[in-house]
Amino acid sequence: MTTRVLFVCLGNICRSPTAEAVFRGLRPDLVTDSAGTAGYHVGEPPYGPMQDAARKRGIGMSDLRARQFGAADFSRFDLILGMDAENLRNIEALRPKGAETLVRLLTDYGSGADVVPDPYYTRDFEGALDIIEAAAQGLARALD
Ligand code: 4NP
Repeated sequence: MTTRVLFVCLGNICRSPTAEAVFRGLRPDLVTDSAGTAGYHVGEPPYGPMQDAARKRGIGMSDLRARQFGAADFSRFDLILGMDAENLRNIEALRPKGAETLVRLLTDYGSGADVVPDPYYTRDFEGALDIIEAAAQGLARALD
């Protein structure tokens, strides 16, 4: 069975599209998507400064568009990965009764960081990329 992996952050314009773009490059054999728990940026491409930082590392994501996470995602995906504790709370608040879909932090798969701090606020796009790339590599190996 193909594993379906969903990356989730708050706005779906910085961290989760980056994680999606990095991970799809590592595991093109898996189904990969991303979403935000908030709807502020639905339909928008990833944030310009985030795209610029990623592009310098050879990571393209200009094709992606923000969408909002919803309860239906629990049945559409096998593994849902949040970027921080707030994401996990917002995801779990929508878990349908009986849904057993695994929800974890992306950083559970390695990077040395506890969470992926939000670069929309910290402006540390390089730091976010470092954490996302390391954790995505760990995830890619874990799903072998
Ligand atoms: P993200 O960053 O959750 O990594 O996409 C954010 C982007 C925008 C906002 C919040 C977080 N915002 O409030 O507009």
